[in-house]
Amino acid sequence: EINFFFPKQQTLAIIKPDAMEEHREEILGEIRAGGFSITQLKEMVLSRDLAEEFYSQHRDKPFYSQLVDFMCRGPCMMLVLTKENAVEEWRSMMGPTDPKLAQKTAPGSLRARFASDILHSALHGSSSQQHAQENIRFLFGDITSEGDLTSDGAHDP
Ligand code: TYD
Repeated sequence: EINFFFPKQQTLAIIKPDAMEEHREEILGEIRAGGFSITQLKEMVLSRDLAEEFYSQHRDKPFYSQLVDFMCRGPCMMLVLTKENAVEEWRSMMGPTDPKLAQKTAPGSLRARFASDILHSALHGSSSQQHAQENIRFLFGDITSEGDLTSDGAHDP
């Protein structure tokens, strides 16, 4: 059956360092159960420079340096997720950034279950299709529509 309303989309998900040790397998299981294809995957420790650039839109926020410290404190899992309406669906599966709010408004969401506070938010999900393409290119370089990976432009650790 072809869905004409929601063509396949890609988004970037990150399992952040706080969720890697204890919750990684459960999160990967939820992603698959949610109908996403994991079309690219790599584990890496972000350098300070990469973490700063990845979150450069938050450069002037009071939480920026803590956020950068947190993002490079251990391994992250970077995932390209493919599904109809993937950007919005992954955001909704994660739930709100602040797990206190998530527990109130979206108790089944992954952040409600696995995040410990607003900084240690367990997961990343691109916030728009444009950010998704930028995020994917930033971490994986050029990916063809077939999902092949070339190393051009990718930031390997
Ligand atoms: P943001 O892009 O606003 O949220 P999201 O991850 O839901 O897209 O923020 C990026 C990260 O910055 C967020 O995952 C955790 C951190 N953060 C804080 O530590 N304090 C804050 O008040 C906010 C808004 C975010």
